[in-house]
Amino acid sequence: MTTPTDSQRMEKIVSLCKRRGFIFQSSEIYGGLNGAWDYGPLGVELKRNLKNYWWRVMVHERDDVVGMDGAILTHPEVLRASGHVEGFSDPMIDCRSCKAHLRIDQLIDKKGVKQCPNCGGKDLTEARQFNLMFETHLGAAADESSIAYLRPETAQSIFVQFKNILEVSRKKLPFGIAQIGKAFRNEINPRNFTFRSREFEQMELEYFCRAEEGMQLLDYWLKERLKFYENIGIPREKLHAREVPDDERAFYSKGTYDIEYDFPFGRQELEGVAYRTDYDLSQHQKASGKSLEYFDEETKQRFVPHVVEPSAGVDRTVLALICEAYAEDQAPDEKGKMEARVVLRFHPRMAPIKCGVFPLLKNNEQLVAKAKEIVDLLRPHMTVFYDGSGAIGRRYRRQDEIGTPFGVTIDFETLGEKDASLRDTVTLRDRDSMKQERVAIKDLPSILRDRIA
Ligand code: GAP
Repeated sequence: MTTPTDSQRMEKIVSLCKRRGFIFQSSEIYGGLNGAWDYGPLGVELKRNLKNYWWRVMVHERDDVVGMDGAILTHPEVLRASGHVEGFSDPMIDCRSCKAHLRIDQLIDKKGVKQCPNCGGKDLTEARQFNLMFETHLGAAADESSIAYLRPETAQSIFVQFKNILEVSRKKLPFGIAQIGKAFRNEINPRNFTFRSREFEQMELEYFCRAEEGMQLLDYWLKERLKFYENIGIPREKLHAREVPDDERAFYSKGTYDIEYDFPFGRQELEGVAYRTDYDLSQHQKASGKSLEYFDEETKQRFVPHVVEPSAGVDRTVLALICEAYAEDQAPDEKGKMEARVVLRFHPRMAPIKCGVFPLLKNNEQLVAKAKEIVDLLRPHMTVFYDGSGAIGRRYRRQDEIGTPFGVTIDFETLGEKDASLRDTVTLRDRDSMKQERVAIKDLPSILRDRIA
């Protein structure tokens, strides 16, 4: 089998995502809505596993972080104070030949002459700023007074609720507020599948601290976040921590790292980890006239806390998980002859379906009944898929292709027909090693729970 090129690999991934129900183009039957994607039955499980694991390690396993879930519709004053109304824009250029709207960094530079990447045209307009926020109107009056925005990041609602959450949680610095939710940006040119979308989800933590702790916590969170990606199956060598240079960094940030991943279409950002100083809380304090200060009971001082923000994209991480998991290799067919297989090698923690359950023969009542018993035994603990149709090798292949890490086969040994000592045991197959082990049915839940934890 020849190794696919990066662009062929990406095409295969996009096609698998559609074919097996991970990701569909939004409004596809009407020609599609550019920059919007719908997650199918497997995609939604993968995404949920990712978000649940993030929430587990960032909130539940810590004493110093609480969660919130803010509104998407945002008061214009919030985004004026944060600087988004004035400055959340990308420089845009139009190609007069093919009418494409382009981000300035997408132009091709041929011997110092800028060209359109679509048609090669050189007749380009001057750059102008294009605000990326989606504006809407609240209620019936469609005028200036009714403007609201769909939030371009989840972070601002955390800053705006800082005082309420501080009061109810009674946390002491340093402490964090976490949120997972939708964000919207009217990207000039959505591309690379779900990588740059107009509607996407973020997983953000705002970790509030004293000024003198900021730089140290920036390093701490960078390390924690790199560990997180390794724990979901992205190898360290494909992750890169890029220190954002002064001229690219937001003016208020004292230090920012981009965590990047080697996608098939190039090295691209998964997450930003930024020390944002006291900029956000100070801006909202100034604009709202409400104190957002913290009172330190030991030193009796009042001050506006600083913040370190690890901000990750759900959709980009899901895409990285799929790209990382995609593999083509060889596996034995029914007769032991090697054949090509497509396999998604998801970390068991992330896999949408954890275990396939297969009666060796679909028309043997005893095998089928035993298989259904095992489904009922496992279902309270994990996602399970029962498959009784087709040759067993085909059934394994179908589960390999969607990344199911374990398969349980119920055969005549299970019924104790040949050897009574094997009654109520099954074969447990590992997707990656393809090794099979014989285990007691009663031990299955704990064996599998340990492997997917
Ligand atoms: N609160 C900080 C913030 O929003 P950002 O770097 O603009 O920072 C954080 O966004 C993360 O959100 C990115 O690293 C990326 O994973 C995700 N993200 C941003 N824009 C996106 C888009 N158009 N499509 C998909 N994900 C996006």
